[in-house]
This record gives sequence, C-alpha cells and structure tokens, in this order.
Amino acid sequence: MMASLRARLLWWVLLPLAAFMFVTGMLSYSAARQTADLVQDNALLASARTIGEDVTWVNGALSAVIPPAALEIFESPYHDHVFYKVVAGRDRLLGGSPDLALPEQAEAYPAFYDTMLHGQPLRAVAYQRQLYDSGTVLPVTVVVGKTQGSRMAMIEDLWHPQLARQGLMLALAVALVLIGLTTELRPLMKLKDDVADREPMQLEPIRVAHLHSELRPIVDAINQCIARLNLQASTQRQFIADAAHQLRTPLTLLDTQVQFACQCSPHDPALTDALAGIRRTSRKMIEITNQLLLLAQAESAPKPAADAAVDMTQVVSSALEELVLAAQRRHIDLGAELDGDLRVAGSEHLLGALVANLVDNAIRYTQEGGHVTAAGRREGDEVVFEVVDNGPGIPAELRAHVFKRFFRGASDSDGTGLGLAIVRRIAQSHGGTVAVAPGPGRVGLVASVRLPAWRGLEEPTR
Ligand SMILES: Nc1ncnc2c1ncn2[C@@H]1O[C@H](COP(=O)(O)OP(=O)(O)OP(=O)(O)O)[C@@H](O)[C@H]1O
Ligand SMILES: [Mg+2]
Repeated sequence: MMASLRARLLWWVLLPLAAFMFVTGMLSYSAARQTADLVQDNALLASARTIGEDVTWVNGALSAVIPPAALEIFESPYHDHVFYKVVAGRDRLLGGSPDLALPEQAEAYPAFYDTMLHGQPLRAVAYQRQLYDSGTVLPVTVVVGKTQGSRMAMIEDLWHPQLARQGLMLALAVALVLIGLTTELRPLMKLKDDVADREPMQLEPIRVAHLHSELRPIVDAINQCIARLNLQASTQRQFIADAAHQLRTPLTLLDTQVQFACQCSPHDPALTDALAGIRRTSRKMIEITNQLLLLAQAESAPKPAADAAVDMTQVVSSALEELVLAAQRRHIDLGAELDGDLRVAGSEHLLGALVANLVDNAIRYTQEGGHVTAAGRREGDEVVFEVVDNGPGIPAELRAHVFKRFFRGASDSDGTGLGLAIVRRIAQSHGGTVAVAPGPGRVGLVASVRLPAWRGLEEPTR
C-alpha cells in the first residue's frame, strides 16, 4: 500500500533534519565537556599551586600549611568533596589524605589524571615544586582531587539549553511542514472531491483555476479523457436514435401489412401477396438488426490480440463461397486473386464481415453480367485487400459520405446504409484504413483496405 504523500514528505524532511540535529547535539555536548574540563582543571591547578606556595622549611623540617583560599576555590552548590595530599621526596606524607593516589607515571608536571577514592571517581592534578635547603633539593608534590558533581552540572548547564533549542527547532519544522502540506494539498483534495462527487453523465471538464503547475498535466489528461467520453456518449446517443428511426420504418410497414392481411379472406389471392410483403419486411428488419449488432461489435472490439493470426486467404475464400449464389443470380462473374502471405492480427469474425460487406456491395450495385474481383496481396508491412467491380462506381462528391452510418447512395437499393461504416470501424479497430476510388479506366469502383501484416509472436504489443 502506498503511504500518504504527507507522511512521505514529512519523512523526507525530518529524517535528514533529525540526523543533522543528532550530530550537532553530539558536537555541542563534547564542546560543553571540554569547557567544563578546562574550567575544572584550571581550578585544580590553582588550588595545588596555592598549597605548594605555602610549603616552607620550619626549623629544618618541611611544613605544609593549607591556606583556606586553596580549597574555597571549589565552593559550589554541588558540595563536591575535595581531597589533597602533600608529599615530600618520594613518599613522605606532609599532610592530607594518605589514600589519594599519585599519578601512575607523570612525565611532566602539572599532571592531570582521573582516579578513584573511597569508591568515588575523582579528577586530580599533581603539581611539583623543588625546595632548596642548604644545598639539598627536595621535590614536593601537591595532589588535589575533587569529585565530579559541579563538573557534571556545568556540562548540563552548557549543553541542555542548546539541546532544548534544537528540540524546539525540530518541533517547529514538523509543525511548519504539516501546516504547509495541509495547505498545499488542499487543491488536490478539492480536485478529488470534484471528481468523486460527479454524476455518472456529468461530463463537463474539470476547472483548473488555482491549481499547482505539477497538477495541471493530470487535470489536462483527465479532461481529455472526459472529452473522449463525451464524444463517445454523443455518438452512442446518435446511434441509438438512428437505429430506432431505421427500425421504426419497417415496423410501421409491417403493421400496415399485417392489418391488410387480417382483412383478407383465407382464399383471397391478395393474402399471398400480403404475406410475401410481410416476409420481405421482416427479412429487412433482420438485416438491419444484424448490421446494427455487427457495428456495435466492431465499435467495442478491443485492439487485436497479437497472438491471434488470421489468414485473409481463408477469410476471403469462405466469404466468397457464401456470396457466390447471390453473384450467380445476377450473372456476375465473381473471382479471387489472392497472392502471398496474407496473415493479419485480429478477429476472424469481424474480418469476415468486412470482406462480406465489400463483396456484397460490389455484387449488389454492379449491373447484371458485370465482373467483381476480390484481390489480396502483400505490400511491405501491409496486407492490401481490394474489391474491384465494373459497376456504376460512386460519384466523387458522394465518396466522402459513403462511410457515414445510414448513408445510402441509390435510394432505391434495399440496403441499410451501415455496410461501409462497419467496414471502416473494423479496419480502424485492426489498425488499418479503408478507401474507395474509381476502378481501372475510371470504370466501376475499387474499395481497398490496408491492414498491418502479422508480425509473429516475437514482438509483443507494449
Ligand atoms: N461497389 C459499389 N458500387 C457502387 N456504389 C456503391 C458500391 N458500394 C457502395 N456503394 C454506395 O454506397 C452506399 C453505402 O454503402 P453501404 O454498404 O454503406 O450501405 P448499403 O449497401 O446501402 O447498406 P448495407 O450494406 O448496410 O446493407 C450504397 O448505398 C451505395 O449507394
Ligand atoms: Mg452495403
């Protein structure tokens, strides 16, 4: 599941911000520690020096008097314990706590070190002074150590305000990002409501005022889709109106014919004529209904599946077989010239209807004794299928109209006017085209359909 845009953006902003704050927090902690250590070490050294200054010879013996100022320096509300020790030479204790350890190995003085006393961690300094007396030199080491209470407090005093400031900044960033996102996402939410609240047939475009430039392409795409739906809906409305109109005429005729037949007595010869008329009308209605169904099928046909190859040679042959009787009845010479690999991708049923409609037209509109030829050949990547006749042809000014639904040239013909509309729709749904032109020597008509040739399975549609 896709997380919300808001959560994801928040994550992108907060993750680096939090990492940055963690690093600066660590840096400011170590800076605070360094400052506290420096202050503490300076105080320890000052105290050790003060004690060291007051070690003097009294009557030939060393004496260490601890001046109060030396320890007052550490006074703080944290009641740190301060320990000291004065050692003459290597280990002669002159005063202070005997347990306070000297630095393990001091290369230079003053030496700062960490140690433990009575289970408490101490920071200590060892300071050394040379005392001279009648030619002898005696080193005196002063050690001052102190518990860590005030140091820790100082680190916290230095570090905590910084931490609080950064926490506040983080909280402020979260709040601003949330407020900003909510405000900026409002047009998107409005767009969602606008689309969601629509009635099924409410097909006006979405208004695009106050919309971010990033959203405009989406809205434009939706609007284009709505426009296509609109076109489709109005075409369908027109189609239903036309179909109803086309069916109403034979139905009215049928009603009149049935009424007339009902008035005839059983042995009246007019009854036979009336019944023949009824049969013609009902056949015409079946024909119209079939053509309407075929057109509906062709309109809703999906793009041809790439894995279904249809051989036009077979499609044309079987269509001609069905129409050969009609051709014979009109003494028309019906022939076929099929050459090469005529496989295309698509629906056998629909392509069969395409061929049948074109050949049916040629047979129907060509004068008795005429010629009709169904020809198929390869031209590069295309399969070209042509129906050539030597009939009256279609006048140039009508050629643009013959593909329209319900358009019929000769008003005395008993067609429905849907044949060429169906042919064009089927050709389009197979990725092809159809055109009509005068025949050879400007006699008759050539109806030609171009379809993309079958390219095999190695090139799947993407
Ligand atoms: N081979 C042709 N020769 C002359 N005119 C043609 C030919 N084919 C089509 N036409 C003209 O084009 C018109 C439209 O043809 P279309 O096939 O669309 O309709 P239809 O034949 O009248 O009816 P349907 O095919 O639905 O039964 C026809 O009425 C006819 O006037
Ligand atoms: Mg026709």
